Amino acid sequence: MFKSLSDCYVLSNGVKIPCIGFGTWQAPDGDVAAAAVKAAIQAGYRHIDTAAAYQNEESVGRAIKECGVPREELFITTKLNNPVRGYDNTIQAFNESMEKLGLDVLDLYLVHWPAPKWTRETWLDALCESWRAMEDLYKAGRIRSIGVSNFWPHHLDPMLSRVEIAPMVNQIHLCPGDHLEPVIRYTQYKNILIQAYSPLGHGEIFKNEQMQALAAKYGRSIAQLCIRWSLQLGYLPLPKSVTAARIEENGRVFDFEISAEDMAVISSLTGCCDTAHDPDNTAF
Ligand SMILES: NC(=O)c1ccc[n+]([C@@H]2O[C@H](COP(=O)([O-])OP(=O)(O)OC[C@H]3O[C@@H](n4cnc5c(N)ncnc54)[C@H](OP(=O)(O)O)[C@@H]3O)[C@@H](O)[C@H]2O)c1
Repeated sequence: MFKSLSDCYVLSNGVKIPCIGFGTWQAPDGDVAAAAVKAAIQAGYRHIDTAAAYQNEESVGRAIKECGVPREELFITTKLNNPVRGYDNTIQAFNESMEKLGLDVLDLYLVHWPAPKWTRETWLDALCESWRAMEDLYKAGRIRSIGVSNFWPHHLDPMLSRVEIAPMVNQIHLCPGDHLEPVIRYTQYKNILIQAYSPLGHGEIFKNEQMQALAAKYGRSIAQLCIRWSLQLGYLPLPKSVTAARIEENGRVFDFEISAEDMAVISSLTGCCDTAHDPDNTAF
């Protein structure tokens, strides 16, 4: 089991990825996002998750530049935005993200959603064109690993039979209140690492009484229990906060273990917070 925030999972292509990522969705662009990312790096996080859609890549880039930690010690993820599909558009979107982040090489580039509304009838063809561009960027050394997000088995399966390079990561909604077992099982069966987004149920998990009782039992916060639960199941959690004390707290999860019995209790809390959006019925 991991001992610190810089300990890593190893992706199917051999690339090492720090075991907890720092989430930045809804971290407002500007000083708030930059300060949050700097606080995370200061607290020991080495893995930052952003997206073109979050509109804070410039602030993340500023924090990377100013944090004082060498670039090669950091692992940076961003994502292809939903309005973008096609080979040339994908290359252009990637270059725009890299410009904002101030990077030459990206550690992980994800397709944010499989079937944006405007491609819904032809999502697989549209996806494969973008994926071909991502494969070429990967082969050219501009991206160290490529992956997907919000993909369910019926997206991964046809994709895998069409593409040359399989995704190394699937980033999905995953917390004690919502774990889609068929998606998890299929993704792991294909040797694709699962990143758990909204690992704190977007904040809703804190109201749950069973989690409150377990937090008291372990002398840990509910957030720490959620993150630890995720790690013990082999997922890579992506907790988000813009609050320095919480950022630090969420990274202190390496000096305790949840018993098998309590892991089962936490896993039984499905329905206690929001569930994943159906990727084939999003409004975007
Ligand atoms: N691929 C996708 O489609 C997708 C979708 C959603 C999210 N994500 C990624 O996953 C990351 C995390 O998901 P998320 O932002 O939805 O939610 P989350 O990490 O489950 O929860 C974040 C919320 O919990 C609060 N919080 C954090 N630590 C806390 C603590 N120790 N005690 C009390 N409150 C705490 C935060 O408040 P403050 O910030 O105010 O401290 C914020 O309101 C995102 O930032 C993003 O990087 C990806």
